[in-house]
Amino acid sequence: MSSLRRSTSAAAALVIAASGLVLGSSPASALENGLLRTPPMGFNNWNSTQCRAEFNEAMIKGIADIFVSKGLKAAGYTYVNIDDCWALPARNSAGDLVPDPARFPGGIKALADYVHGKGLKFGIYTSAGTKTCNTAGFPGALGHEQQDANLFASWGVDYLKYDNCNNQGVDAQQRYKAMRDALAKSGRPIAYSICEWGQNKPWTWAAPVGNLWRTTGDISDKWSSMIGKAQTNRGLAQYAGPGHWNDPDMLEVGNGGMTAAEYRTHFSLWAMMAAPLLIGSDLRKASDDSFAILKNTDVIALDQDPLGKQATVLSANGGLVVYSKVLANGDRAVALSNETSATATISTSASATGIGGASSYTLKDLWSKAVRSTTGTISASVPSHATVLYRLSSGAARYEAESATVSAGGTIDANHAGFSGTGFANGANAVGSYVEWQVTGPASALTFGYANGTTAARPVDIAVDGTVVATGVPFPPTGAWTTWSTVARPVSLAAGAHTVRVTATTADGPANLDYLDLSR
Ligand code: GCU
Repeated sequence: MSSLRRSTSAAAALVIAASGLVLGSSPASALENGLLRTPPMGFNNWNSTQCRAEFNEAMIKGIADIFVSKGLKAAGYTYVNIDDCWALPARNSAGDLVPDPARFPGGIKALADYVHGKGLKFGIYTSAGTKTCNTAGFPGALGHEQQDANLFASWGVDYLKYDNCNNQGVDAQQRYKAMRDALAKSGRPIAYSICEWGQNKPWTWAAPVGNLWRTTGDISDKWSSMIGKAQTNRGLAQYAGPGHWNDPDMLEVGNGGMTAAEYRTHFSLWAMMAAPLLIGSDLRKASDDSFAILKNTDVIALDQDPLGKQATVLSANGGLVVYSKVLANGDRAVALSNETSATATISTSASATGIGGASSYTLKDLWSKAVRSTTGTISASVPSHATVLYRLSSGAARYEAESATVSAGGTIDANHAGFSGTGFANGANAVGSYVEWQVTGPASALTFGYANGTTAARPVDIAVDGTVVATGVPFPPTGAWTTWSTVARPVSLAAGAHTVRVTATTADGPANLDYLDLSR
């Protein structure tokens, strides 16, 4: 589990403790396997290779390597999943599935071990039918649910995508529940992805069955396909929540069939819709632009927000669409998305998002990183097929780290671009090294802007007026010192003057700290 995931679930626990909020939404019961409290992040080969020969052991190992070396693991990507065509067309004499020795000479168990050795998780595919979808006729799991689930568990599988081909007309709920029960009996926690293409409205019945369910047919690497999936999926917000997500299919970012603006729209909308972020391009050949999209930690934070709310549509007029997503710290994410073929101005307001009540708001553009304040109007000129994505904070007051007190040995620096204001605090690399702000309450959340270009989290204790209110709060790696992200914690700060001090608990000292935002 990556540090990002750890920190988001820790944040979820704090939100519950602080506010008594009940997380999750309408479906009364969700699958009780404790998995995917935030949407899955990872990789699946299908969108780049389908069943071609380049889908093999070397590719999957290469992807796992890149997850670590290029900072994707640090950004939260965890699952390395394989799709159809990994098996031979016939079961063995014991009735077990057999990995194709040409594609996977070391077998699947060794591949899963390799992926686990990188601190990642491994996923596999089969169909809730007699055969999978490929014409070669690879065996499906219908009628073999327990045997196949047990085999997957014995290999160390962490995630199953369960397709819908060759289902023999057997009732979908019956087929998908049979595998749910088989996975539960396998003895291994296995995230369960229902791939029934939305045919039987799984959002109405699958929350207690799977961790996510496809809402649409397969995506392809074209604007019309991608935006069509978004249009279907965005009406289903009420059905999504922690552990049970709508799935508009895997990402096409980087496969070459869309423009950079269209891919940013794709990634923005998937994050807004709390959709799985499963990279579908061959990262061994991906451009810097693709990595920049996939590693936008501000956008990922929307997808992985611990409250687990899918964005709703505030307005959709002639292809100009406004989405809003409620976030755990009370912020809203707002997407202004232009589906038309011409540049257009798209507008909404802070009060339309339900945040309301403040005289001024902070608006951060999550692609350009520009931060500005507004008294309520949210409006932008949006090019054709582009999406402007904002994080809106109510009445947040920003306290820059360059005006904070830094303990001995720390400095105020400006040598890593992308910070707000005129610099950031670079605390000394020592236990006890601290940064302290003088702030004015009230506040319901503290949000720290920071960067951590190392590969280890930099935990701090947070103290308000000299009392520690949170211990060992991790500031996970951001991938680079120039990549800035946020850590937010709910707090109950009364009106008036306060001090907020963060103190490093390890010899690495604190992360580079950019600012402290107080949300009302
Ligand atoms: C590097 C980096 C600093 C950072 C430091 C650290 O020197 O340039 O900005 O503070 O590492 O590890 O804390």
